[in-house]
Amino acid sequence: MSRRISDRLSEVARRSFFGRQAELAVLRGAIESPELPFVVAFIHGPGGIGKSCLLQAALSSVRPEIHSIVMDCREIEPTPKGLLATLGATLEMRESETDLPSVVARLGRTARRTVLTLDTYETFGLMDTWLRQVFVPVLPESVLTIIAGRQAPNPAWLTTPGWLGLFHEIELRELPEGDSRKMLQSRGVTDPQAERVNRFARGYPLALELAAAALRTQPDLAISSGPPPKVLQQLTHAFLRGLPPEITEAVEAASTVRRVTEPVLRALLAVSTAREIFDNLRDLPFVDVTSEGLVLHDVVRDTVAKGLAQRDHERYCTCRRRAWRSFTSESHRAVARNLWQCTADLLYLIENPVIREAFFPEGASDYTVEPATTGDGDAIREIAASEDAEESGQFIARWWDRHPETFSVAKTHDGKVAAFYAIFEPANVDPGLLTDDPLTSAWLEHLRRNPMAPGERVLFLRRWLAHTTGELPSPAQAACWLDIKRTYMELRPHLRRLYTTVADLHTYAPIVVPLGFVPLEEASATLGGVTYHTALLDFGESSVDGWLASLVGAELGVESTDLQTSIDAVASAVHGERPDLRPQASPEGTVTILFTDVEGSTALTQRLGDAKAQELLRTHNRIVRDALRAHSGSEIKHTGDGIMASFASASRALECAIAMQRAFAEHNEAAEEPIRVRIGLNAGEPVAEEADLFGTAVQLAARICAQAQPGEILAADVVQQLAAGKGFSFADKGEATLKGFEKPVRLHEVRWQG
Ligand SMILES: Nc1ncnc2c1ncn2[C@@H]1O[C@H](COP(=O)(O)OP(=O)(O)OP(=O)(O)O)[C@@H](O)[C@H]1O
Ligand SMILES: [Mg+2]
Repeated sequence: MSRRISDRLSEVARRSFFGRQAELAVLRGAIESPELPFVVAFIHGPGGIGKSCLLQAALSSVRPEIHSIVMDCREIEPTPKGLLATLGATLEMRESETDLPSVVARLGRTARRTVLTLDTYETFGLMDTWLRQVFVPVLPESVLTIIAGRQAPNPAWLTTPGWLGLFHEIELRELPEGDSRKMLQSRGVTDPQAERVNRFARGYPLALELAAAALRTQPDLAISSGPPPKVLQQLTHAFLRGLPPEITEAVEAASTVRRVTEPVLRALLAVSTAREIFDNLRDLPFVDVTSEGLVLHDVVRDTVAKGLAQRDHERYCTCRRRAWRSFTSESHRAVARNLWQCTADLLYLIENPVIREAFFPEGASDYTVEPATTGDGDAIREIAASEDAEESGQFIARWWDRHPETFSVAKTHDGKVAAFYAIFEPANVDPGLLTDDPLTSAWLEHLRRNPMAPGERVLFLRRWLAHTTGELPSPAQAACWLDIKRTYMELRPHLRRLYTTVADLHTYAPIVVPLGFVPLEEASATLGGVTYHTALLDFGESSVDGWLASLVGAELGVESTDLQTSIDAVASAVHGERPDLRPQASPEGTVTILFTDVEGSTALTQRLGDAKAQELLRTHNRIVRDALRAHSGSEIKHTGDGIMASFASASRALECAIAMQRAFAEHNEAAEEPIRVRIGLNAGEPVAEEADLFGTAVQLAARICAQAQPGEILAADVVQQLAAGKGFSFADKGEATLKGFEKPVRLHEVRWQG
């Protein structure tokens, strides 16, 4: 959501501003002049060059009667509705009133100069056309729009007739040496240090800022020079080295998510209070304070996240899973002021290249996607005629003639149509044509046989084709798909299904199946001798957000329902990851799985504080790992609150579990803080073809562990049977019903004392 500039002034004050006199003069001159010299200013330059700072500086000293509205595109749903709702909220309008004419009318109510700023515009690619063609042209004369983003403006801002002279472009470059030096001095850097820093930072403000901060703890800081991203990476590492370990740990955890709020931080660190650490994060030089939480600068965030993933992959995965759980929980939804925040947070967790490419396609920004106009008809017909079978091309032409409003086109910067697509809700189009067209009539038939619930909506994506490459993946088509995603967003939370068609199912299946599309052979149609297959995307009961959650969940190996305890999450995660345990199997193919879980680690953290609780966890790790080594166990993964391990023999696993409990008991005798650990054991056969079955065995082991009392070892019946006659003492605990398992499971307590 947006804030008034006053909210941000304190942030500016934190870091004083230098240089940029020419740019400031142009912006301030425009803001203050009675007649606007241009209606849009577009500031651009790489990340960390100082765009946001310039915006703040330009607004910070203007006359009080000027009304400034500061909006950060990262925080706004990329739809017209999302932008208008955000803008309406800053204008104190009721949400139901935030349609375009009302918002414009409200803006025009005073003759006062209004400055509307849209920062981080690079995340708003989907909205560029609408802003340029629809929104800015209807704004009152008194409104100056300032856009700041990493990419240069789409040339259409410069070339569209009517825009000439109304658009002012400002490209930001590095600070000149004199200004860099002043900036460094103001941050307490000595002259000789400043000279050294500028040799590698070369006037790049974010690098200067990070270097100044790193110098505070490491006066001898040495960084080799190179391109800005490389320098920033080195600086990030150097800076983190100088931080207290608990802050470094929080930065690492925060690097796995798009933004952190206090509840998210608590979830990431598995602690019950995180106020102090949150405040510490906020004051770091690469952290942006937004109204939706703290955002790490992305160069820093990517560097830290990559480093964590390489160094401690388990922790990296644990953080992402914890984030996922926090984002899908009710409390997160209550905190996020709109659904878009949740969607964007979930999207950020997606690492799968196929899925990422579908949402953030490369090369798509070379095209502008906009609603087709009459003049585009010839190009659309031509593409349809040359890229599809004749009969299919004829149907596309009929759709164009009857419903041109359902078509959008991707255009190159010189205005040529490179691709088109047609999408509609069946209820909005001519029923005659719907039944004439063999594909749409097959889709209707499928809908009739498989009706949706009342209120659910469906989209027919009738065709998408690009010049020369047809339906095959291409950058122009990627641009179209991105635009199609915008339509999904607009129909959320009611969108339930999308029907579409492909001729070359073979090429498309690997791309779209991971996204949830399923081929519907019964709904295919033959046109001009070519089979056009139908693919159906069922978003599920929770519409687009549920679909996204399940995509992310599948990738992280967590199920989307009912994740209550961390052990639950781990059990499901393990299920999804299916570690290859065959090397640890006995000659009979059996593997015994052991889970440990430190009692009440959250409560512990609350009581002892983070550092102390971490220390306890480290002691737990050491004791468990020592025992594993002594009993030929293999650590499979750290679960955040415990360890999962496997053994080729059930008796070895039992011996190991007993050794662990004894070692903890011994430790506790002398320790200030006892460590009380649950241990659960199960056995199964990790046959490759039966990966699912084995996943279940692992999940059961985790559930048995959760069932154990602190200080107790619980084993499944199968473990007791495998170890029968080997001198272990078991106490039958009877049958227990464990979550996710239909049949009750007989459990045995393993005696280890005495
Ligand atoms: N003119 C300046 N004087 C002093 N400090 C500056 C100046 N410009 C930028 N900085 C510092 O550099 C850092 C990066 O600047 P800023 O956040 O404005 O970059 P940006 O271009 O908006 O980057 P992004 O594309 O990542 O949003 C800020 O933390 C700020 O402290
Ligand atoms: Mg910025």
